[in-house]
Amino acid sequence: MANRQPLIAGNWKLNGTRKSVVELASAISDGAAGLPVEVLVCPVSVHLADVLAVVGNSPVHLGSQNCSEAESGAFTGEVSANMLQEFGCEYVILGHSERRALFHETSEQVAVKCLAVQKAGMTPVLCVGETLEEREAEQVESVIAAQLDAVLAAGGIEIFRQMVVAYEPVWAIGTGKTASPEEAQAVHALIRQKISSLDADIGSKLRILYGGSVKADNAASLFGQADIDGGLIGGAALDATSFLAICEAAASTVEKSAS
Ligand code: 13P
Repeated sequence: MANRQPLIAGNWKLNGTRKSVVELASAISDGAAGLPVEVLVCPVSVHLADVLAVVGNSPVHLGSQNCSEAESGAFTGEVSANMLQEFGCEYVILGHSERRALFHETSEQVAVKCLAVQKAGMTPVLCVGETLEEREAEQVESVIAAQLDAVLAAGGIEIFRQMVVAYEPVWAIGTGKTASPEEAQAVHALIRQKISSLDADIGSKLRILYGGSVKADNAASLFGQADIDGGLIGGAALDATSFLAICEAAASTVEKSAS
């Protein structure tokens, strides 16, 4: 895993109550203490303050699942990057396939959001990934290249200096079908090569997470791959025991590479 600290991020999606997210966040803060991995939780915006009250004094980081590309103004229902930053967010998930598919976000819009998030001092977690049809048509490389190219066109290679990329094959999200460690590694290597070909330093430092049906029992084999630097976890992030087992699987890869 080179010198990249693993990042395990929980995308809680549209789930939880004020009470349940506080319980989940406190179990994660307690269990993650001392692990040699960075841990991130991403609740819905209205739960940020409650979750910040729990994780604010712990090593667990806070993130949002989306943000507006606008700073302020007549954009009913939106939340800006500065507002999220004020609520303690350090990361913002952008371009998740659910936002691309259900809310029609384009790669160009995602790119503008990346710039807004960085301008507010936070780190985008840029999601990329292909659908099953695209995989079957052998378009994985071109689809992911196009998703990255839109961001490169907006911000140049320097934008990847303060960025996490999450490879989430759409067919693996919430389906129980995980990419095999080799399939995932092949795409992670492509992403790193593309960024490294533009700037070797940025490419070697870029953390690339895998997401899509990561569970406690498949995490270690995925995280053992050379270019997989952690995970973006959906369903299994809603249960503290499962999520912490995934964090420990990432920790064990660090301990192995250190020994
Ligand atoms: P699952 O872990 O539920 O497949 O979700 C993955 C995901 O979409 C994380 O962003």
